[in-house]
Amino acid sequence: MVGAVDKHLALIGFMGAGKSTLGRELAQLTDRPFVDTDDEIEKRFGPIGELFERGEPEFRRIEEQIVAEALAGPTAIIALGGGAVLSEVTQARLDRTAFIAWVPVDVDTAWSRVSDSGRPLAQDRERFGQLYDQRCEVYDVLAQGGGADVEALLLSAHGIVFSGRVPYDAALIADERVASLHELRLLTPAVSTHLVPSGEEAKTLAVVERLWSELEIGRDGWLVGFGGGSTTDLAGFVAATHLRGVRWVAVPTTLVGMVDAAIGGKTGINTVEGKNLAGAFHFPQQVFVDPSFLSTLPPEERRAGMAEVVKTGLLAGKELWALQEEEMIRACAAFKTAVVLSDPYEREGRRAILNLGHTFAHALEAASGYELRHGDAVALGLLAALRLSGRSTDVVEEVLAPAPVRVDRGRAWNALLRDKKGRLKLILLGDEGGYVTDVPERDVKRALDQLIAD
Ligand SMILES: NC(=O)c1ccc[n+]([C@@H]2O[C@H](COP(=O)([O-])OP(=O)(O)OC[C@H]3O[C@@H](n4cnc5c(N)ncnc54)[C@H](O)[C@@H]3O)[C@@H](O)[C@H]2O)c1
Ligand SMILES: [Zn+2]
Repeated sequence: MVGAVDKHLALIGFMGAGKSTLGRELAQLTDRPFVDTDDEIEKRFGPIGELFERGEPEFRRIEEQIVAEALAGPTAIIALGGGAVLSEVTQARLDRTAFIAWVPVDVDTAWSRVSDSGRPLAQDRERFGQLYDQRCEVYDVLAQGGGADVEALLLSAHGIVFSGRVPYDAALIADERVASLHELRLLTPAVSTHLVPSGEEAKTLAVVERLWSELEIGRDGWLVGFGGGSTTDLAGFVAATHLRGVRWVAVPTTLVGMVDAAIGGKTGINTVEGKNLAGAFHFPQQVFVDPSFLSTLPPEERRAGMAEVVKTGLLAGKELWALQEEEMIRACAAFKTAVVLSDPYEREGRRAILNLGHTFAHALEAASGYELRHGDAVALGLLAALRLSGRSTDVVEEVLAPAPVRVDRGRAWNALLRDKKGRLKLILLGDEGGYVTDVPERDVKRALDQLIAD
């Protein structure tokens, strides 16, 4: 599987790198258990200093056992002691069960953080420096990714790379409009290029069938989806189904794609019954994000993306919409990654919080006969969700300025009920972020009505 989706996220690195602090924060964001192997050893066997006095081999044996137990447990965030990965048995176990991320630190910073800690291996500066060099060689070989902060670690653990170049041969599925605006040659050494209709028009079974028959890649081949969420949803679905599944990467070219659609493995197409009704979870191996593709994005598409940014910021409890563009995209992508890692297949329901405002949005979109842009519908949906949560709507008004839409009220209400299949469970916003709750029907109806112009 891809990144840390079905695996532990194991933090490796030298003492003093901050693995424990970062691990704790990651555990909270991803709603996964946190295991700090040094803490676990101390809890069960007493102070590490004392264990070391009995000889390092004895300590390493205990450490190996504690790491093995953590790796055999539920999918977690695991901070490993600096020397734990020297064991070959541990290395092999990690390789099977974890995404291994290196938390880097420079030797002086590490020394300044741990020299007073009484750690057995941090007594002598020169010896410390030698150990640092030796261990960094091991970390370098083992690491599949890494980062010095939570955001970088999340992005790395989900294969999100800030670059506009895919470094391997692949069959390229590209939105025809985007292909006319950007140089495909620079994107990937494509083995074949398949243009698909611009935007939502591509998400049909007819396009999928055409691609199934055109593609000449084998089971070991790769697909690249290049375009907005429509193209990456389609390309991912073709990748999930072609020859029972091939690997793929996403290169989003819209703001919606970069902060939302290209991340998280949901792929699919539309059927005559409705949007996204046929699909599969099929995670891209990597997502290549290059904000410079946004230079050609029409303003209304950017606005649609900002609605998802505001949604993400509200859920994260941070003013992400106020950040400079690349920072904003990074932060949103990292937040979505954390939620996805907590519940990759939307089984426990936590992933559903990403649908804040979307019940209303979907109802308005359907009532407009899909004339209303999703992002504009989300902006309105956020107003309703915030009102029902008893929270201020100022941010949505200021950043997105949504105007009520002219759609049939009855049609919108029926669409909402159909979407909810009779149970009015909504995502609302609390001090701790999004949560799912039952809301009385009349309140939901009133909130929906407020979004509709007479
Ligand atoms: N899989 C998921 O988790 C997920 C999440 C959110 C949305 N989606 C899906 O994403 C789709 C919407 O995606 P979207 O909002 O990215 O739009 P889109 O892919 O439908 O593209 C919108 C328009 O922008 C054009 N375009 C794209 N990139 C451009 C660029 N760089 N310059 C100029 N024009 C460009 C397209 O040709 C199209 O006309 C919906 O189908 C939705 O269901 C999926
Ligand atoms: Zn959305």
